[in-house]
Amino acid sequence: MNICVIGMGYVGLVTAAVFADLGNDVVGADIDAAKIELLCAGECPIYEPGLQEMLCRNLEERRISFTTDTPAAVAACEVIFIAVSTPPGPDGLPDLDQVRAAARDIARGLIGHKIVVNKSTVPVGTGDLVARILAEHGPADARFDVCSNPEFLREGSAIEDTLMPDRIVIGVSNHRAAERLLELYSPLERPTIITDVASAEMIKYASNSFLATKISFINVIADICEQVGADVAAVAHGVGADRRIGHEFLQPGLGYGGSCFPKDAESLIAIAAAHGCDVALLRAVQEVNRARVRRFVERMIQVMGSLRGKTIGVLGLSFKPNTDDLRGAKAIELIRALLDEGASVKAFDPVAMKKCAALLPQVQYAESVYELARGCHALAVATEWNEFKLFNLARIKDLMAEPVIFDGRNILAPEKVRALGFRYYSVGRP
Ligand code: UDX
Repeated sequence: MNICVIGMGYVGLVTAAVFADLGNDVVGADIDAAKIELLCAGECPIYEPGLQEMLCRNLEERRISFTTDTPAAVAACEVIFIAVSTPPGPDGLPDLDQVRAAARDIARGLIGHKIVVNKSTVPVGTGDLVARILAEHGPADARFDVCSNPEFLREGSAIEDTLMPDRIVIGVSNHRAAERLLELYSPLERPTIITDVASAEMIKYASNSFLATKISFINVIADICEQVGADVAAVAHGVGADRRIGHEFLQPGLGYGGSCFPKDAESLIAIAAAHGCDVALLRAVQEVNRARVRRFVERMIQVMGSLRGKTIGVLGLSFKPNTDDLRGAKAIELIRALLDEGASVKAFDPVAMKKCAALLPQVQYAESVYELARGCHALAVATEWNEFKLFNLARIKDLMAEPVIFDGRNILAPEKVRALGFRYYSVGRP
């Protein structure tokens, strides 16, 4: 199939690369000429395991190309995905300017019948908005179907998630569009849910808000565990063993970050409030999450006294492992709070240090965890990178001014760390 993907951000680029890899002819379109130039040269603008190789492979085999001329790309394709960003506007509602602009560009390329598919996370009703823009700005005889196909990929495992999603959600208003999209996705052989456009749009918000709720819930349980002397790891294990609940997204710590959960939960609150619906539960989920870093820093102060003049080594900067994405990263929030308390901050991250240096130049960036540990009065784990579990802790202890670890992601084994002589504090574990 000939496919155009508009918006070469995370979702758009991964979608384009995977569809090309499945044998389709794909054009990636973006208004950012510098990004398009990079992509044409086979350089991936984001860090995502496997993506660079997939991009080069498909460029070489001429299944993927990139352009800034969106109308021309649209004119040559049958299926057009909108994968532009929908950042929160001043009222908390998603800002749809980029969606509107993409729709106007599509309208200029409307020749023959087109299936226009919204992949961006958008409020219910956006499908209708896109259809109105196409009708208004397209030729009088324009023929199109507007569909919704929300994306559930996670950064760090984006390719795997796109190739093997738990489900594919397709929101359509007629069978013809549904059949073409089913055909496009058929090589994946995954469960597919066909519904109406509004419900598909809502599924995305409901899914992300539910996962955010799970994380805030386990964080509340972790705080209670600390008070009553229970171990949240054992509790999460026991709770998650109930198939109705499941083990995933029950990891307590500094809370959820990233470009999706905080934003999508906020958007759903704004959407619900705008329709006069009750938002108490969703607000509580966000409030619990916002309080996590402050609570963690309070614990550090409780243990160490004033942080003024102390050196803290922050382990991990990205909002989660296997990405260099700093959007909504709890590590950034933590570093800012530590600097406000008068601490000096050193940091180490396997991939995100360069990006972070532009954002927080006052931080001292270390080349290795051992360089990080040197002279620190405490280490604080902010991102759950797997490799942090494999460090030589005895060597780290010898390099530190004080052997103290605050584990904001519960990645280390308390007995092991304490046996080496560290004072070790994690979240919700005795
Ligand atoms: C999320 C959704 O998972 C994905 O389906 C959607 O398409 C986009 O938003 P992503 O933001 O890439 O994906 O990250 P995810 O792996 O879901 O983690 C989000 C945040 O929650 C991270 O900061 C992570 O550290 C935190 N988290 C996750 C927890 O604190 N505890 C958990 O148990 C799981």
